[in-house]
Amino acid sequence: MTTHRRLLATGFALGLTALLPGAAAAQGNLTVYCSVQEEWCRPMMQAFERATGVRVAMTRKSSGETMTQIRAEAANPRGDIWWGGTGDPHMQAAEENLTEEYRSPRMADLHPWATRQAEQARFRTIGIYAGALGYSYNTTELARRRIAAPTCWADLAKPEFRGEIQVADPNTSGTAYTMLATLLQVMGEEPAFTFLSAMHRNVNQYTRSGAAPARAAATGETLVGITFLHDAVTQKIAGAPVEIVAPCEGTGYEIGSMSIIRGARNMENARRFYDWALTPEAQAIAGQANSYQLPSNRNAPIPPQAPRFENIRLIDYDFARWGSAAERTRVISPWEREVRAGAR
Ligand code: F6P
Repeated sequence: MTTHRRLLATGFALGLTALLPGAAAAQGNLTVYCSVQEEWCRPMMQAFERATGVRVAMTRKSSGETMTQIRAEAANPRGDIWWGGTGDPHMQAAEENLTEEYRSPRMADLHPWATRQAEQARFRTIGIYAGALGYSYNTTELARRRIAAPTCWADLAKPEFRGEIQVADPNTSGTAYTMLATLLQVMGEEPAFTFLSAMHRNVNQYTRSGAAPARAAATGETLVGITFLHDAVTQKIAGAPVEIVAPCEGTGYEIGSMSIIRGARNMENARRFYDWALTPEAQAIAGQANSYQLPSNRNAPIPPQAPRFENIRLIDYDFARWGSAAERTRVISPWEREVRAGAR
């Protein structure tokens, strides 16, 4: 018997397969497209590797960018699972038949908003967290400029905020698309585009990633950053001089989602990850990684700093409608033509 074989035999006899070289590799691989913050993606993948022995290759990209990549790779899928990112592009991927139907045994443990997302997408996606949209401003810079504190969406179109606002681009960022869809629902379509054109004069940069403006507001690189409220909370907890605003007119929210990519090469491990990501233990990693969304598992701990929906004036966001490919094109095209292309 060779040394390797002897080791194997002893290992099996002692039930020590996990300690043997190659045991982890035997569990196979998984390619994850991650659309939350890198700081949360990394510990999540490490915890899954530890729990299962599966080797994970992870790429982090914004929600819209990931959707574009999955569509481009449809004939030869490279990713197995898309974890995180706003629900709208996940819904669109489901509609375009880019993702796989799966009904996790964990579904029964989730909040109704998470399972409704699954039902509306014929079980091709599922809610993993939720968070409301708003903005944050740098209090030091606001005082220095002697500007009255903004409290509403409408304030962001005022001339005193010229060049002071940062927000992401809805083509790449799910956050920015949520803002676009939110304003159309809150204000009505024509007034929303009028507002967005006025606010465009105040925008200093359209970023690729949705959370970047919260970091820029924290450092004072911009006065105001439009993001999900939880991304601003991360900055505030880290000690940044920011105030967080849930706009007075009401605001929208995201159902952060997860989908299995159609034709995944590692389908079994994709399902394993899917089930695991819905457990309270996996969802508790968010708070430990300074991410303050509301978890979808009813038994997962809610980080005490997470903005609670009961304290925010939320609109009844129509996820099926705004997650459809037709609506997305219908609203992003005029945003590019009438808003983005406008003079500043
Ligand atoms: O991870 C932070 C976060 O705000 C998530 O809650 C959200 O789903 C995601 O980023 C959206 O990122 P992006 O706007 O870059 O697509």
